[in-house]
Amino acid sequence: MNSTTIITIAIAVLAVLGLGVVLTASRRSDMGGVGVLSRETRKRDRDAKKSSRNARRDVEAEASASRSTAVAVIQPVEIEPWVLPDREAVDESRRAFLNRATVTLMSASLGGFAAALIAFLWKGADGGFGSKINAGKLEEVVGKIRANKGFLYLPEARSWVTEYPKEAISKADVIYAGQAPVFSGMSSGIVALYQKCPHLGCRVPECKTSQWFECPCHGSQYNRVGEKKGGPAPRGMDRFGVSVNNGMVVIDTGTVFGGPPIGTNTTGQEAEGPHCVGGTGGH
Ligand code: FES
Repeated sequence: MNSTTIITIAIAVLAVLGLGVVLTASRRSDMGGVGVLSRETRKRDRDAKKSSRNARRDVEAEASASRSTAVAVIQPVEIEPWVLPDREAVDESRRAFLNRATVTLMSASLGGFAAALIAFLWKGADGGFGSKINAGKLEEVVGKIRANKGFLYLPEARSWVTEYPKEAISKADVIYAGQAPVFSGMSSGIVALYQKCPHLGCRVPECKTSQWFECPCHGSQYNRVGEKKGGPAPRGMDRFGVSVNNGMVVIDTGTVFGGPPIGTNTTGQEAEGPHCVGGTGGH
């Protein structure tokens, strides 16, 4: 290849390269023109943003105005002025309450008392303690006394019923002459002794071993027919009148007869075994 050909080729290559550079620069210039907004467009954008801001402000202002209106709508509340209570009226009210309470309590107390009184009288009329009490047939009463080792307790009569030995009746005639209802029972072989100790009122139990009555409170002792044998009691056990009508034993608890004086010992019964309370007092 000669030098002229080489130069021609080089020129052609340079020409092609130069044309490529020109085309590339031209394309870049076209692309730069596409990315840039026009003035009108930018103005429109600004106007739109401004309008949006204005609209937001309007909405906020409206909301704020509506909130303030809601708070302003408050119903007026009427407040009663406090008035000092009338002292006389208060005192009067308190007095009325106390009077009513007193009357109510008194009525309740009187009502309770009346009810208890009626119950007591009703019971007396119905055959309870304080009236005549039918103890049953004589032979049955005696049978129960013996079955219970010498003593029969009748709670409705608050009494102990024991046998009175027939052989001692002649002595009883003298001692109990002034107590005909009591002596009547003794004559029939029965004595009804009040359960209450003549010393200070304890209930006196029987003592099966000694066959006496022995008071646990202060140790007073009485034989089986209630004559005092020891202890601080001032007399023998009090008792009730007993009658036997058509074979039926009736104890009249409406009248309490005082026990026989200290030293009375119509039956001569001594302790038949160990005492339940202490020994023989000998007072
Ligand atoms: S109460 Fe019975 S001895 Fe005193």
